[in-house]
Amino acid sequence: MPAVREPLYEQLADEIAHLIASGTFRPGDRLPSVRKLSQQKRLSISTILQAYLQLENRGLIEARPQSGYYVRRASEAELPEPAISSPRPDPSQVSIQELTMMVLRDIKNPNLVQLGTALPNPDLLPSAKLSRIVAALAREDERLANTYDLPPGLESLRIQIAQRHVETGCNLTPADIVITSGCMEAVDLSLRATCQPGDIVAIESPIYFGMLQTLQAQGLKALEIPTHPRDGISLDALRFAIAHNPIRACVVISNFNNPLGSCIPDENKRQLVEMLAHHEIPLIENAVSTELYFSEQRPAVCKSFDRKGLVLLCSSFSKDISPGYRVGWVAPGRFRAEVEWLKYTANIGSAPLVQMAIARYLETGGYDHHLRRIRREYARNVSLMSQAVTRYFPPETRVTRPSGGFVLWVQLPEKVDSLELYKRALRARITLTPGYLFSASQQFRNFIRLNAAAWSLDIERALRTLGLLVGEMARK
Ligand SMILES: Cc1ncc(COP(=O)(O)O)c(C=O)c1O
Repeated sequence: MPAVREPLYEQLADEIAHLIASGTFRPGDRLPSVRKLSQQKRLSISTILQAYLQLENRGLIEARPQSGYYVRRASEAELPEPAISSPRPDPSQVSIQELTMMVLRDIKNPNLVQLGTALPNPDLLPSAKLSRIVAALAREDERLANTYDLPPGLESLRIQIAQRHVETGCNLTPADIVITSGCMEAVDLSLRATCQPGDIVAIESPIYFGMLQTLQAQGLKALEIPTHPRDGISLDALRFAIAHNPIRACVVISNFNNPLGSCIPDENKRQLVEMLAHHEIPLIENAVSTELYFSEQRPAVCKSFDRKGLVLLCSSFSKDISPGYRVGWVAPGRFRAEVEWLKYTANIGSAPLVQMAIARYLETGGYDHHLRRIRREYARNVSLMSQAVTRYFPPETRVTRPSGGFVLWVQLPEKVDSLELYKRALRARITLTPGYLFSASQQFRNFIRLNAAAWSLDIERALRTLGLLVGEMARK
């Protein structure tokens, strides 16, 4: 069936909406006059007027008598944030496998507007530079691909990782680090090293579904702890949970939790590490998005407060250099020997060529400059998407205000079921992640996670469509 084209005035309204969203026209700016725009675009006066009328109806612009059309000043009150979560107080078996696999199938479809992944914006990855490095390395020594690199992994890479952490008060040595295939392998090995099937693990709620699936695969039970949308895990709730449950390990995404964007304040990190150390409970810290902070200051990691070797710091280069290279690492503290052995039993070792490529990129590739750029871009794109949610979604919607990373967590009106919305959005060629995936006990029925890594006219349109779908479902 041929694609149905939008009427001209709608196309023009979209174009102008995009110029407003991306900052070309700012609040208070005068838009081109109707006559001028009609000449410029070779469209009739009535088409221009209809486009401006539509933008007025969308609340983006206002007509001022005798003067013209202006971008509305941002009286756009911000939507409130979701409240702290309130999960079930007892441990749950995790079973989100089918739903997750269904949602993951859509990730590869290039015909969909992809708001459902937590992948970085491909335009903001240093892919060309990495390809050149890989080609040069392969030329320098063809044998690289023909050998194993046994755990703990490539030394030059471990040196780079250790050096980068000195700045943050986290005194790691290369010997403290084991290279893994991505952050999720680091988490998987850390859980294997610290827990047995059937054990209870305290986790933030909501939390990235990959973490829940790792618990499920290992037969561990999740005890979901209330988590604040800005400050992360509630220390009081965790204290209470420890007093009433035999918790074997605790898992947090310390900096820019996926999906919340929460960042545990550094003082809370210190208290969290001390509380767990007091009970000899290992902390598995996923810090994969730490570099993506929007403020001036890089947040600390819990590991920097670790005095007993009980924090297993897990991370990777998937969010800022390349998710496909699958290069991650863990600093497992006192569990180092066990983690190293488990890594060996899992897959002998990580691929040497990609480890060398990342190490060389860190040594020579302008990583800091790259990070400064992507932090600015992600801050901008997150802000644009959250403004669009404010504009297009019903007023009862709530949205997080992340201070880093690139995902938004949106609480929809009570009546809206996120799985039903997911299906309807898919018919409109848009993906999103339903809230159900982020809890072991089906907590987040009317929540969705949106990927805000990129911004474009298509994305702006997709948000408008989503807003309309949510509005319809909320009214039923
Ligand atoms: C919090 C979090 N941890 C881990 C991962 C996956 O990391 P990796 O690709 O390094 O295994 C993701 C990807 O979305 C994530 O959001």
